[in-house]
Amino acid sequence: MDKKKILILGASGFVGNAIYKELCSYFDTYGTCCSNRTFASNNQFLKYDLEEDDIFKIFEKVRPDIIISSLRGNFSAQIQAHQHIMEYLVKHDTRLYFISSANVFDAYSKYPSYEFDKTLSESVYGRLKIKIENMMMRLPPEKMAILRVPMVFGNTSPRIREIKETLENKEPIEVFPNLIINVTNDDRLTQQLHYLINRNKTGIFHLGSQDLIQHEEFIKEVIRKMGNYHPILKRVFTTNEDRYLAALPKHNKLPKNLRIKYQEIIDHHLPV
Ligand SMILES: NC(=O)c1ccc[n+]([C@@H]2O[C@H](COP(=O)([O-])OP(=O)(O)OC[C@H]3O[C@@H](n4cnc5c(N)ncnc54)[C@H](OP(=O)(O)O)[C@@H]3O)[C@@H](O)[C@H]2O)c1
Repeated sequence: MDKKKILILGASGFVGNAIYKELCSYFDTYGTCCSNRTFASNNQFLKYDLEEDDIFKIFEKVRPDIIISSLRGNFSAQIQAHQHIMEYLVKHDTRLYFISSANVFDAYSKYPSYEFDKTLSESVYGRLKIKIENMMMRLPPEKMAILRVPMVFGNTSPRIREIKETLENKEPIEVFPNLIINVTNDDRLTQQLHYLINRNKTGIFHLGSQDLIQHEEFIKEVIRKMGNYHPILKRVFTTNEDRYLAALPKHNKLPKNLRIKYQEIIDHHLPV
């Protein structure tokens, strides 16, 4: 069988590694790691530091059909690396799936945002994502997919680990009572990406839960599910009114079996 070659940039990270695990049995899958040495002995992994290494060398070695970008790191180095990715895409029969964020809309607060809404961000992180998205918009459409993702939870997620540690240390947990969000988890996110790859889907996708919840309520439910804790909550009010940080699908919806509601994330996917 002629398996597609997939290269995951940031495959040693939380999201990138979940993607690697989902795809590696079905595709010829490669990944990059930077400081994490766990993967040093895995032949499918290549060392890549975006502040030092030439990404073209990685591309020459792997010759990917699909690149998935799930990186963190220095912002200007990320921009430069993505400029190089664009150059490669133009010249090769390769497609890019970019893990973006709901933060591309963090300057809007009165409503949730949909795929074709104009992006606007007040944060450096959101602006970085917008900059990379805008580079991608200049590519032929069949070469790219932008995946806007809200906070990702899951059994091994840094967010859940941090909550657990904070609870065990009896320290306060920050919650945002008037922040209304959608959420996702690693399992569903990676299944959705797998589907998009199988179907050769391109464009902009909002990959969060279909429904919304207040940040404080979600975190409280998560903690309830974790055990008999008596959390100290530090309620942070950033504005007087409700504020939305949610990217919902309207135009590019996924099949019903691949959608998720926040309650499922709490019920099925968190440690009990
Ligand atoms: N987690 C979420 O809730 C969430 C939500 C929305 C969007 N996202 C996006 O998803 C992507 C991955 O996030 P994550 O939570 O999985 O982050 P993460 O666990 O910190 O993983 C980041 C990845 O980037 C690599 N990396 C860091 N610095 C690097 C450098 N200088 N050169 C090359 N690679 C470097 C890391 O490699 P080493 O570990 O080997 O150093 C790791 O593989 C990010 O683009 C993030 O914006 C995440």
